[in-house]
Amino acid sequence: MESNVRTIPSTLKGKDLLTLLDYSTEEIKYLLERAVELKHAQKHGKMAPLLAGKSLGMIFENASTRTRVSFEVGMTQLGGHALFLSPRDLQIGRGEPICDTAQVLSRYVDAIMIRTNSHKTVEELAKYATVPVINALTDDYHPCQALADMLTVYETKGLYKGLKVSFIGDGNNVAHSLVIICAKLGIDIAVATPPGYELNQSILQKAKEVAKRTGAVIEQTNDPVYAVTGADVIYTDVWASMGYEAEQENRLQIFQPYQVNKSLVKHAKRDFMFLHCLPAHRGEEVTADIIDDPKHSYIYDEAENRLHAQKAILTALL
Ligand code: CP
Ligand code: NVA
Repeated sequence: MESNVRTIPSTLKGKDLLTLLDYSTEEIKYLLERAVELKHAQKHGKMAPLLAGKSLGMIFENASTRTRVSFEVGMTQLGGHALFLSPRDLQIGRGEPICDTAQVLSRYVDAIMIRTNSHKTVEELAKYATVPVINALTDDYHPCQALADMLTVYETKGLYKGLKVSFIGDGNNVAHSLVIICAKLGIDIAVATPPGYELNQSILQKAKEVAKRTGAVIEQTNDPVYAVTGADVIYTDVWASMGYEAEQENRLQIFQPYQVNKSLVKHAKRDFMFLHCLPAHRGEEVTADIIDDPKHSYIYDEAENRLHAQKAILTALL
């Protein structure tokens, strides 16, 4: 069947997906190209039940629309099954250790997906699980989002190298994963944040090490105009991520000069793409005229691509 053609690199079978830092450029490109094939197969009614009889356990310690629905539907489309597991119902909510949860779930399911705040929790889960663990967002990383983002860029622009991505706002999980994937693919990226909200320096350093090999230029600045100048892609995200709600009022003031609006996007290329992982706050990090402009905004393709990118991940790792 059409959705069965590409050979899966043997290095991906059984691998965790925690940060993408330990994924090679070739592995990432494989996942993106595989996602294109799976998307095509889905649109033409040619999906093969590649994960028949397989189960994915999904632990959600935080809210989600896209991640939950796209993983669950993705497993169904592949002939498998996904279980939504909330800490309210699981024994981890009552203090059962991660090491026991990891080993017990590994006896039932073929992979575990987790969304939580502390990245250490995901690392611990991966350490004890004997099945692949997929990071579905921590305070530091959102690798599944980054794959869907690059799938959207690749579909639209047809290439990776030679592009400039600009991320404006908080140096958060989404920004970190975007910087990592750009470094791996050789895409230039400039990140503009308010002073004090820069990228995590250790993650930035790791991405810069990768960029030395791929030729990507990675810049961190406090100047949004500088970051956006000549950009092919403008990306933003909420100013206060999950877990930082108490800082929302304060951040509204601090981040105001970093709003993506008409006057800022004038500095980008004329055919720039606007991306946002969603959920978005219109009138805060981006104005409605930009996010809702069908000429530039690809947010719904980007959200859809979570489904296809994750099906590529699932069929490769499981
Ligand atoms: N972009 C994203 O991860 O969305 P959800 O929080 O709705 O899953
Ligand atoms: N940075 C946001 C992304 C949500 C998908 C958050 O962590 O809340």
